[in-house]
Amino acid sequence: MASAIQLTMADDGILVATMDLPGRPMNVVGDELMGGLQEALARLADPAAKGLVLTSAKADFCAGGDLDRMSKWTRPEQPFEASMAMKAVLRQLELQGKPVVAAINGHALGGGLEIALACHARIALDEPRLKLGQPEVKLGLLPGGGGTVRLPRLVGIQQALQICAEGADITPQKALAMGLLAELASSRDDLMARARAWVLAHPKAQQPWDVPRFKFPGGDSRAPAIGQLFSVAPSVAAQKSWGNYPAVQHIMSSIFEGGLLGFEAASMVESRYFAACAMSVESRNLIGTMWYQLNALKKGASRPAGVPRGKVSRLGILGAGMMGAGIAHVSAKAGIEVVLLDSTQEGADRGKAHTRTLLDKAAKKDGSPEAAERRAALLGRITPTTDYNLLAGCDLVIEAVFEDRAVKADVTRKAEAVLGATSFFASNTSTLPITGLAQASPRPTSFIGLHFFSPVEKMPLVEIIVGQQTSDETLARGFDYVLQIGKTPIVVNDSRGFYTSRVFATYVMEGMALLLEGVHPRSIEVAGLQAGMPMPPLALQDEVSLSLGLMAGEQTRKDLAAEGKTVVEHPGTKVLRQLCEIGRVGKKAGKGFYDWSPEGKRLWPQLAELYPVAAQQPGQRELIDRLMFVQANEAARCFEEGVLRSAADGNIGSIFGWGFAPFQGGALRFIDAMGAPAFVARARELAARFGPRFEPAAVVVRQARDGTRFG
Ligand code: NAI
Repeated sequence: MASAIQLTMADDGILVATMDLPGRPMNVVGDELMGGLQEALARLADPAAKGLVLTSAKADFCAGGDLDRMSKWTRPEQPFEASMAMKAVLRQLELQGKPVVAAINGHALGGGLEIALACHARIALDEPRLKLGQPEVKLGLLPGGGGTVRLPRLVGIQQALQICAEGADITPQKALAMGLLAELASSRDDLMARARAWVLAHPKAQQPWDVPRFKFPGGDSRAPAIGQLFSVAPSVAAQKSWGNYPAVQHIMSSIFEGGLLGFEAASMVESRYFAACAMSVESRNLIGTMWYQLNALKKGASRPAGVPRGKVSRLGILGAGMMGAGIAHVSAKAGIEVVLLDSTQEGADRGKAHTRTLLDKAAKKDGSPEAAERRAALLGRITPTTDYNLLAGCDLVIEAVFEDRAVKADVTRKAEAVLGATSFFASNTSTLPITGLAQASPRPTSFIGLHFFSPVEKMPLVEIIVGQQTSDETLARGFDYVLQIGKTPIVVNDSRGFYTSRVFATYVMEGMALLLEGVHPRSIEVAGLQAGMPMPPLALQDEVSLSLGLMAGEQTRKDLAAEGKTVVEHPGTKVLRQLCEIGRVGKKAGKGFYDWSPEGKRLWPQLAELYPVAAQQPGQRELIDRLMFVQANEAARCFEEGVLRSAADGNIGSIFGWGFAPFQGGALRFIDAMGAPAFVARARELAARFGPRFEPAAVVVRQARDGTRFG
């Protein structure tokens, strides 16, 4: 089998080790790569070899750990031993007596950066796009290849804490400034030349921590300033994470304890914390969903196979309001020509102005002439108009006019009159079933739902809704467009509220039901945050507006009545109605559950008069369970009814769409992780006390019986 690292030695006696894992698009740290490094070390022992330059033949230097291998670990000894074994090789690399330089030609992340840290010097290409960092924390892990040991000794404890606990990328320029890199190179040739020169200039290279009387830059964990840092950092982190991300705590502990110990002991401590992280349910959830399921979705798991990849070159947008303007911006940014149409020229211009405002903000960050040119070109791609004829030649038209069936039908007909047979049409409706809207189109097979989220520039998700007549080709083209603009698509079948709005509503409505029962509003809000939701339910309802919630509920009731069905009113609806009646419609009005002011928000003091706080208060656990079970159960119902087509769509949709606690791995994985039998038992308890909305979905009851799961 081809080796993971190719070795060449030129006349100057410098061994060049080029990482190139066979059959993989990226270099990842695992047995193969470490085996290759051991071979390199054996060659380096040759007396003719003066030193080693480690680089990569792939676009990246090394992307991180091999998650496939990690997923197979079942006992804590396995991650502990794997981590210790990797570190034994890296230790040998830095102690074998000859200089070693990392020539970083692309991203060096996670285990990749840890390998580079075990080299005596690091030189990187000076490209702002090149990323360095320890992102393990994002998957519930800690750097287990010496990152929490070497980084504090190289750049100081404070910087190391930031790099490891926040997981943010570092640019080469920043890395140079903090001493993580020795030099920057302007090209690949320059990179190799500098690396060779460094080797020749430092024949006796040693790591700072292997020099006698080594001192941590900025002090070790005994230093007063560091003591102060550790007296606040864990509580600040816990305040943000509510203790839901144990990796953050483990990283801090590893760095703190390692800062009291010698190198070898610190390494062992790190491996123990690594094992704790690797075995944690949080990291399993995060890796399962945010790595495997997300990658599967992006690779097209929910896209019909066999349809050639589509590309949108010219896009029409009907309605230049908040959503239309946002969609225009992200599309023009992706290089698409945009025709932005509204009922008045003024309205269309206002939509384009939205992009100008965003670009002006960006200009403050990057004022370079190239960036200015890019911004001007982007703006030039948006044509504001009232003229439907300009839609001719569009590959796709997205309507984002008022949420009104008649208005939507009218603009659909007008656009279709101009569009060619090869185009397709999408609605950005947030509530109206797609199959019904498609009736206004002469080509319902080419009609689809593309549900964006607000603010469009920031939100990563687009929910693609397949109507009864939508063709596979249209779905594939919609999917390709979403990827083209850099968003993540989930695919769902047509239904009231689709998937995201429907399940999201259960969260805020449960918050209101609790309020009606006399639970203290502060306890409700804290329970939402403790559960890992980005916003508490009542504040969130204020943000989206109570009147909108009420309207959507009314519409559902009417639609169901028209179908001859009756709905049991959710207790939260009463709260919505009462607050709307007194004008407390949410943040827009400056008043809802909170009083909103430019300085911030504060719970409305008179809320307790409307909803007296009961003498007997439930425990937080019960509140958290209610807020989470109600969502997970509704997501399971969506699965059962075929609204969801896959567990991956359900999990990613919940995290990216409305911020469902990421450490749970998404709304369906919440059930998988707990196990269907435990979910069913607790859901039944809640149903007996709080109503049928908690009655477990039949699919989960079946899973509990058969021992199956969603993902
Ligand atoms: P908006 O009120 O900000 O914008 C609507 C725009 O459509 C206005 O500029 C209006 O002048 C224009 N318009 C209305 N009738 C028109 C016609 N006959 N011809 C041309 N232009 C016309 O509304 P927003 O928030 O942008 O919503 C648009 C659509 O997106 C709605 O269907 C809404 O349900 C949906 N949506 C909204 C989200 C949100 O958070 N606001 C999220 C996801 C979807």
